[in-house]
Amino acid sequence: MVISNNNIIEKEFDQMLMDLIKERRSVRLFNGKKISTNEILSIIEGATWAPTGCNNQELRFLILEKEEEINEILKFKPIFRGVSHIVLIFCDMSLPMSQKMYIKYKFERHLPYIDTGLALGNMILYAKSKGIDSCIFNLSEYHIKQEKNIKLINKILNKIKAKLGLHTLREDNFEFYLRKHLKIPKHLKIKCGVAFGFAKKYPNVNTDKHGWNKIMRKKVSYYILSK
Ligand SMILES: Cc1cc2nc3c(=O)[nH]c(=O)nc-3n(C[C@H](O)[C@H](O)[C@H](O)COP(=O)(O)O)c2cc1C
Repeated sequence: MVISNNNIIEKEFDQMLMDLIKERRSVRLFNGKKISTNEILSIIEGATWAPTGCNNQELRFLILEKEEEINEILKFKPIFRGVSHIVLIFCDMSLPMSQKMYIKYKFERHLPYIDTGLALGNMILYAKSKGIDSCIFNLSEYHIKQEKNIKLINKILNKIKAKLGLHTLREDNFEFYLRKHLKIPKHLKIKCGVAFGFAKKYPNVNTDKHGWNKIMRKKVSYYILSK
Protein backbone atom coordinates (compact mmCIF):
# COMPACT_ATOMS: atom_id res chain seq x y z
CA MET A 1 0.00 0.00 0.00
CA VAL A 2 2.80 2.38 0.97
CA ILE A 3 4.62 1.38 -2.21
CA SER A 4 1.60 2.08 -4.36
CA ASN A 5 1.18 5.45 -2.65
CA ASN A 6 4.80 6.20 -3.36
CA ASN A 7 4.28 5.24 -6.98
CA ILE A 8 1.41 7.64 -7.33
CA ILE A 9 3.46 10.50 -5.82
CA GLU A 10 6.45 9.66 -8.02
CA LYS A 11 4.35 9.66 -11.17
CA GLU A 12 2.83 13.03 -10.37
CA PHE A 13 6.21 14.44 -9.52
CA ASP A 14 7.69 13.22 -12.87
CA GLN A 15 4.98 15.01 -14.74
CA MET A 16 5.32 18.17 -12.66
CA LEU A 17 9.06 18.20 -13.20
CA MET A 18 8.71 17.70 -16.96
CA ASP A 19 6.10 20.48 -17.12
CA LEU A 20 8.42 22.80 -15.19
CA ILE A 21 11.29 21.99 -17.56
CA LYS A 22 9.13 22.72 -20.59
CA GLU A 23 7.43 25.83 -19.25
CA ARG A 24 10.61 27.64 -18.19
CA ARG A 25 11.59 30.32 -20.68
CA SER A 26 14.48 32.76 -20.88
CA VAL A 27 12.98 36.10 -19.89
CA ARG A 28 14.65 39.31 -21.05
CA LEU A 29 12.18 41.95 -19.86
CA PHE A 30 11.30 42.03 -16.14
CA ASN A 31 8.73 44.02 -14.16
CA GLY A 32 11.06 45.58 -11.56
CA LYS A 33 9.69 43.60 -8.58
CA LYS A 34 12.41 42.54 -6.14
CA ILE A 35 13.20 38.96 -5.13
CA SER A 36 13.94 38.45 -1.42
CA THR A 37 17.52 37.76 -0.30
CA ASN A 38 16.44 34.40 1.15
CA GLU A 39 15.03 33.31 -2.19
CA ILE A 40 18.23 34.24 -4.02
CA LEU A 41 20.25 32.36 -1.42
CA SER A 42 18.07 29.28 -1.82
CA ILE A 43 18.53 29.42 -5.61
CA ILE A 44 22.30 29.49 -5.09
CA GLU A 45 22.04 26.69 -2.55
CA GLY A 46 20.41 24.66 -5.35
CA ALA A 47 23.44 25.44 -7.54
CA THR A 48 25.87 24.22 -4.88
CA TRP A 49 24.16 20.80 -4.89
CA ALA A 50 24.81 20.26 -8.59
CA PRO A 51 27.51 17.70 -9.36
CA THR A 52 31.05 18.95 -10.07
CA GLY A 53 33.83 17.07 -11.85
CA CYS A 54 35.95 15.22 -9.24
CA ASN A 55 33.78 16.90 -6.59
CA ASN A 56 35.99 19.97 -6.84
CA GLN A 57 33.16 22.36 -5.77
CA GLU A 58 35.04 25.16 -7.49
CA LEU A 59 32.16 27.49 -8.36
CA ARG A 60 31.67 30.82 -6.58
CA PHE A 61 28.68 33.14 -6.89
CA LEU A 62 28.53 36.92 -6.76
CA ILE A 63 25.09 38.40 -6.06
CA LEU A 64 24.44 41.84 -7.52
CA GLU A 65 21.28 43.59 -6.43
CA LYS A 66 22.11 47.30 -6.09
CA GLU A 67 20.77 49.40 -8.94
CA GLU A 68 24.19 50.96 -9.70
CA GLU A 69 25.87 47.54 -9.97
CA ILE A 70 23.13 46.09 -12.13
CA ASN A 71 23.24 49.16 -14.39
CA GLU A 72 26.97 48.65 -14.87
CA ILE A 73 26.45 45.01 -15.92
CA LEU A 74 23.72 46.14 -18.30
CA LYS A 75 26.31 48.30 -20.07
CA PHE A 76 28.03 45.05 -21.09
CA LYS A 77 24.72 43.27 -21.77
CA PRO A 78 22.10 45.86 -22.65
CA ILE A 79 19.08 43.63 -22.04
CA PHE A 80 17.20 42.61 -18.89
CA ARG A 81 15.37 45.84 -18.01
CA GLY A 82 13.60 45.61 -14.65
CA VAL A 83 15.79 42.72 -13.46
CA SER A 84 15.90 42.11 -9.69
CA HIS A 85 19.23 40.32 -9.23
CA ILE A 86 22.18 39.32 -11.36
CA VAL A 87 24.34 36.42 -10.25
CA LEU A 88 27.83 36.04 -11.70
CA ILE A 89 29.42 32.61 -11.60
CA PHE A 90 33.17 32.20 -11.19
CA CYS A 91 35.55 29.27 -11.12
CA ASP A 92 38.11 29.32 -8.29
CA MET A 93 41.38 28.52 -10.03
CA SER A 94 43.40 28.69 -6.81
CA LEU A 95 42.16 25.34 -5.46
CA PRO A 96 44.79 22.59 -5.73
CA MET A 97 42.45 20.41 -7.84
CA SER A 98 41.67 23.37 -10.13
CA GLN A 99 45.35 23.96 -10.74
CA LYS A 100 45.86 20.32 -11.54
CA MET A 101 42.77 19.67 -13.61
CA TYR A 102 42.10 22.96 -15.39
CA ILE A 103 45.66 24.14 -15.97
CA LYS A 104 47.92 21.10 -16.03
CA TYR A 105 45.80 18.47 -17.78
CA LYS A 106 44.34 19.55 -21.10
CA PHE A 107 41.74 16.78 -21.16
CA GLU A 108 40.09 18.10 -17.97
CA ARG A 109 39.99 21.81 -18.83
CA HIS A 110 36.37 21.74 -19.92
CA LEU A 111 35.09 20.47 -16.56
CA PRO A 112 34.32 23.90 -15.00
CA TYR A 113 32.18 24.76 -18.03
CA ILE A 114 30.16 21.58 -17.55
CA ASP A 115 29.93 22.24 -13.80
CA THR A 116 28.72 25.79 -14.48
CA GLY A 117 26.04 24.46 -16.82
CA LEU A 118 24.81 21.99 -14.23
CA ALA A 119 24.73 24.67 -11.53
CA LEU A 120 22.83 26.98 -13.89
CA GLY A 121 20.34 24.23 -14.66
CA ASN A 122 19.56 23.76 -10.97
CA MET A 123 19.27 27.50 -10.46
CA ILE A 124 16.90 28.31 -13.28
CA LEU A 125 14.62 25.33 -12.63
CA TYR A 126 14.47 25.85 -8.88
CA ALA A 127 13.81 29.57 -9.48
CA LYS A 128 11.00 28.71 -11.89
CA SER A 129 9.48 26.37 -9.30
CA LYS A 130 9.23 29.43 -7.04
CA GLY A 131 7.70 31.61 -9.78
CA ILE A 132 10.98 33.43 -10.42
CA ASP A 133 12.04 34.00 -14.04
CA SER A 134 15.58 34.04 -15.33
CA CYS A 135 17.88 34.32 -18.30
CA ILE A 136 21.37 32.88 -18.51
CA PHE A 137 23.69 35.23 -20.36
CA ASN A 138 27.09 34.84 -21.87
CA LEU A 139 29.58 37.10 -20.14
CA SER A 140 33.30 36.62 -20.50
CA GLU A 141 36.48 38.54 -19.79
CA TYR A 142 36.35 39.69 -23.43
CA HIS A 143 33.05 41.58 -23.26
CA ILE A 144 33.22 45.28 -23.97
CA LYS A 145 30.87 48.00 -22.71
CA GLN A 146 28.46 49.06 -25.41
CA GLU A 147 28.87 52.81 -25.13
CA LYS A 148 27.96 55.32 -27.78
CA ASN A 149 29.90 58.59 -27.68
CA ILE A 150 33.48 57.27 -27.46
CA LYS A 151 36.21 59.71 -28.57
CA LEU A 152 38.03 58.77 -31.79
CA ILE A 153 41.40 58.61 -30.04
CA ASN A 154 40.01 56.13 -27.47
CA LYS A 155 38.51 54.06 -30.28
CA ILE A 156 41.93 53.83 -31.94
CA LEU A 157 43.70 53.01 -28.65
CA ASN A 158 41.12 50.33 -27.90
CA LYS A 159 41.63 48.74 -31.30
CA ILE A 160 45.39 48.67 -30.77
CA LYS A 161 45.00 47.07 -27.30
CA ALA A 162 42.60 44.49 -28.72
CA LYS A 163 45.01 43.64 -31.58
CA LEU A 164 47.87 43.23 -29.11
CA GLY A 165 45.76 40.91 -26.93
CA LEU A 166 45.73 43.53 -24.17
CA HIS A 167 41.95 43.65 -23.88
CA THR A 168 42.09 43.43 -20.08
CA LEU A 169 43.81 46.84 -20.00
CA ARG A 170 40.84 48.47 -21.70
CA GLU A 171 38.75 50.39 -19.21
CA ASP A 172 35.60 49.35 -21.07
CA ASN A 173 36.48 45.65 -20.79
CA PHE A 174 34.57 43.31 -18.47
CA GLU A 175 37.68 41.77 -16.93
CA PHE A 176 38.95 45.27 -16.09
CA TYR A 177 35.58 46.10 -14.52
CA LEU A 178 35.60 42.90 -12.44
CA ARG A 179 39.09 43.41 -11.03
CA LYS A 180 39.05 47.18 -10.60
CA HIS A 181 35.47 47.98 -9.63
CA LEU A 182 34.03 44.78 -8.17
CA LYS A 183 37.40 43.88 -6.57
CA ILE A 184 37.23 40.27 -7.75
CA PRO A 185 40.67 38.64 -7.32
CA LYS A 186 42.41 37.24 -10.38
CA HIS A 187 42.11 33.59 -9.36
CA LEU A 188 38.34 33.82 -9.84
CA LYS A 189 37.56 33.39 -13.53
CA ILE A 190 34.19 34.52 -14.82
CA LYS A 191 32.15 31.71 -16.39
CA CYS A 192 28.66 33.05 -16.89
CA GLY A 193 25.93 35.40 -15.71
CA VAL A 194 22.28 34.83 -14.91
CA ALA A 195 19.54 37.40 -14.46
CA PHE A 196 16.60 36.82 -12.08
CA GLY A 197 13.33 38.67 -11.71
CA PHE A 198 9.65 38.52 -12.57
CA ALA A 199 8.64 38.60 -16.23
CA LYS A 200 6.99 41.66 -17.70
CA LYS A 201 6.95 39.90 -21.05
CA TYR A 202 6.95 36.08 -21.04
CA PRO A 203 8.13 34.56 -24.34
CA ASN A 204 5.57 32.69 -26.40
CA VAL A 205 7.04 29.27 -27.05
CA ASN A 206 4.72 28.70 -30.02
CA THR A 207 5.76 31.77 -31.98
CA ASP A 208 9.00 33.34 -30.65
CA LYS A 209 12.41 32.88 -32.22
CA HIS A 210 15.88 33.51 -30.80
CA GLY A 211 18.88 33.48 -33.07
CA TRP A 212 18.13 31.31 -36.08
CA ASN A 213 15.73 28.96 -34.36
CA LYS A 214 12.22 29.00 -33.00
CA ILE A 215 12.42 28.48 -29.24
CA MET A 216 9.90 25.64 -29.57
CA ARG A 217 11.84 22.37 -29.54
CA LYS A 218 11.46 19.79 -32.25
CA LYS A 219 10.38 16.21 -31.57
CA VAL A 220 12.94 14.31 -29.49
CA SER A 221 13.76 12.01 -32.45
CA TYR A 222 15.27 15.01 -34.30
CA TYR A 223 18.04 15.32 -31.67
CA ILE A 224 18.86 11.62 -31.44
CA LEU A 225 21.73 10.44 -33.61
CA SER A 226 21.04 7.37 -35.64
CA LYS A 227 23.55 4.52 -35.60
C1 LIG B 1 25.29 29.32 -22.21
C2 LIG B 1 24.11 30.21 -22.55
C3 LIG B 1 24.33 31.52 -22.89
C4 LIG B 1 23.26 32.36 -23.18
N1 LIG B 1 23.50 33.67 -23.46
C5 LIG B 1 22.48 34.49 -23.71
C6 LIG B 1 22.72 35.88 -23.92
O1 LIG B 1 23.86 36.33 -23.88
N2 LIG B 1 21.65 36.67 -24.16
C7 LIG B 1 20.37 36.17 -24.20
O2 LIG B 1 19.44 36.94 -24.42
N3 LIG B 1 20.11 34.86 -24.00
C8 LIG B 1 21.13 34.01 -23.74
N4 LIG B 1 20.89 32.68 -23.49
C9 LIG B 1 19.50 32.15 -23.49
C10 LIG B 1 19.21 31.39 -24.81
O3 LIG B 1 19.08 32.30 -25.86
C11 LIG B 1 17.90 30.60 -24.62
O4 LIG B 1 18.14 29.58 -23.67
C12 LIG B 1 17.41 29.98 -25.93
O5 LIG B 1 17.00 30.99 -26.81
C13 LIG B 1 16.24 29.02 -25.70
O6 LIG B 1 15.17 29.69 -25.08
P1 LIG B 1 14.54 29.20 -23.70
O7 LIG B 1 15.62 29.31 -22.65
O8 LIG B 1 13.40 30.14 -23.43
O9 LIG B 1 14.08 27.79 -23.87
C14 LIG B 1 21.94 31.84 -23.17
C15 LIG B 1 21.72 30.50 -22.82
C16 LIG B 1 22.79 29.70 -22.50
C17 LIG B 1 22.54 28.27 -22.07
